[in-house]
Parts: sequence; structure tokens; C-alpha cells
Amino acid sequence: MSATLVRGIGELVTNDPTVGDGVLGVVRGAALVIDDGRVAWIGPAEDAPATDRMIDAEDGVVVPGFVDSHAHLVFAGDRAAEFAARMAGEPYTGGGIRTTVAATRSATDGQLARNVARLRSEALRQGTTTIEVKSGYGLTVEDEERSLRIAREHTAETTFLGAHVVPPEFDGKSDAYVDVVCGPMLAAAAPYAKWVDVFCERGAFDADQSRAVLTAGIAAGLQPRIHANQLTAGAGVQLAVALDAASADHCTHLSDSDVAALAGSATVATLLPGAEFSTRSPYPDARRLIDAGATVALATDCNPGSSYTSSMPLCVALAVREMRMTPAEAVWAATAGGARALRRTDIGHLGIGARADLVILDAPSYLHLAYRPGVPLVHTVLLDGEPT
Ligand code: NIG
Ligand code: FE
Repeated sequence: MSATLVRGIGELVTNDPTVGDGVLGVVRGAALVIDDGRVAWIGPAEDAPATDRMIDAEDGVVVPGFVDSHAHLVFAGDRAAEFAARMAGEPYTGGGIRTTVAATRSATDGQLARNVARLRSEALRQGTTTIEVKSGYGLTVEDEERSLRIAREHTAETTFLGAHVVPPEFDGKSDAYVDVVCGPMLAAAAPYAKWVDVFCERGAFDADQSRAVLTAGIAAGLQPRIHANQLTAGAGVQLAVALDAASADHCTHLSDSDVAALAGSATVATLLPGAEFSTRSPYPDARRLIDAGATVALATDCNPGSSYTSSMPLCVALAVREMRMTPAEAVWAATAGGARALRRTDIGHLGIGARADLVILDAPSYLHLAYRPGVPLVHTVLLDGEPT
């Protein structure tokens, strides 16, 4: 069987504390062998076995591939003008979602598919080896179904977000729209979706509606995750914990009992600093969550409205600079944290048996991800052990 040796590793981040130092399981002077798409061996470079193929990391740091557990890639058009208006003082309310819904409905399948492929490849070039992709800009049975069908061609981590906002044709009839979401729309979407999500927020869906959407999704075999506490301190986080959602995302406005509920649960708090950056909003307090014992993930929230970035390294840098995370906590949250938010054990780390999804950086240490913001440090990305 042909194996690959990664040698010349200046610093190896395994996220496995049994293999190396600290929470990141850092090993220096290591080599790593990949066999059949999995990490098969880690040890001192001088003990590395002979293999058919070698990849030289040139003294760079090797980190697990980033796991972006929250992205909205199926859409058409952009909202650059809305961004410019915001930078001139307009607040972000989520109202612009309807602009993207109109553009998405008028797009062809080919246009939507090309946009997803473009963004997926943009993310991969920045080290994202796993990405979750949501629907949510179609908001009709047909448009949600095709959004997920297209998303499924690019990732197994697909999320039905028919309950993103109430579309204009259901103005004043949000309960009737929730019935459609929980009925025919869910039935059409479920074959292509792994997850169900809802935007639990003032102006979107209230606690009862959100619970109805998530429980209907669970009954259809999907697993719950939620947009919670983004713009206001609502009921989303408590609902997430009550339903054992894999993740509560945004978590920008949290009460003490929200923090305690997350800390006492298996629900990950996924923070999306690209959204606060692009909406010029106060960042969530990651330190408060981590100190309470909650598990924190970082993701991009890539979407044309609140966060049009596909860059996990940017999120790491923002988390360190603006959210009081240490560089080690931020790198862990962008890799192992994202894996937890997707309830995956095969990704987000480089222990023996892990999928060989990894990134070689043009930098001597993982610290450089936060220390050198905006710099294209990604040198090589391996997906399933193969260079991309
Ligand atoms: O996660 N909050 C809801 N959905 C997206 C924003 C979508 C948009 O503005 O188009 C978010 O920020
Ligand atoms: Fe989002």
C-alpha cells in the first residue's frame, strides 16, 4: 500500500494532548505518515519509516485542516451596497436576507452551483478542509430542495435552513410559513440534509416556532443546530441545550444562565467573529464562555450579508484580537471545536486514525495565524491525504 511521509515539520499541531504538549498536542521535530487517507504514524523525524511518497513541510507548522461549521454558500448576487451603507452608520437587522432570497430564486441551478464551487474552492485554498453549507435563501419548497441538492455535491455537512426568515409572500402569516417549513419543505429537503437549523431571533422566528422547526427536523431524521442570540438575548441558546443541539451559533448576547446552560451541556457555542466585524457590532465574549467551561468553536458564517468571508485564519485572528481567546484556544476552536460542532471525531485533529486533512503553513508556529493577519500563510492543503 502506498503511504506518504510528511517530513520537515517545524511544529506539528495534533490537537491530541496524548501525543504532544498542551491542548493543541504540539510536537516539535516530528514526522507524520499517511496511509489510506488517515494518519498512520507520528514520531521523531529520525525514526520515520520509508514511504513511496514524501512531502516536505520546509520547517513550516502543520495544523489540522480548518473545520468551518457554519456557512451559507448557496446564494446569488451580493450585498456590497448594504455593506457600504452599514459602514456609513446603518444598523444590521437581517432585513437584507430578502434581497438575497430574490436573487437566489431568479438564479439558474448552474449559477448557484458555480457560486458554491467558487466559494468552496476559495475556502479550501485558505485551509478549510470541511465546510458546513446551509440552504436558506430559497424559502420555497423547490428552491430549498435545489439549494440542498447543490450543496450536497460539495459537502456531507448540509443544513436545511428553510426557517431563515419569513419570505415576503407570507408577510403577517409566519405560522403558516412555519407549517410549510415543517411539512412539504422539510420533506423535500430532508434527503439532501444532515442538519436542521432555524434563525431564532426577533424579526425572524420566535421560541415556539423555532422549537416546532427543530423538532419536526429531528422527527425527519435530521440533527438540530440553531442561529441563537445573535442580535438580542433571546431564547435560542436555552432551546439549543434543551434539544441537545450540536451547536448554538453566534452567542453574541448571552445571559449568565445561557452561559451556564452551555457549560453544562454538549452543545458547542459557535462564535462567528466575521459577522461582528462586517456588521460593526460588539464581539461575543469568548473568555466568559471558556472560563465557564463551555466548548467554543469558530466559524466564518460566510454569507453575502453579515459576513462575506471564507477565511478561517481571519476568524482566528479576530478571535484573538477582539474576543480574548489565546492563539492556542482560537486554533483549537477553528479545528477541533468545529469538529465538535459537527459531532465528528474523524476530523479536527491529527491523532492516529484521524482523516489526513491537514494544512502546511509558511510559518514556523501556529501563533502566526493570529500574529500575521491577512497574510496568505497556507502553503499546502491535504484532503484525505492528497494535495489539493
Ligand atoms: O448568520 N442571521 C441569520 N443569517 C445570517 C445572515 C444572513 C444574511 O444577512 O444574508 C447570519 O448572520
Ligand atoms: Fe449564519
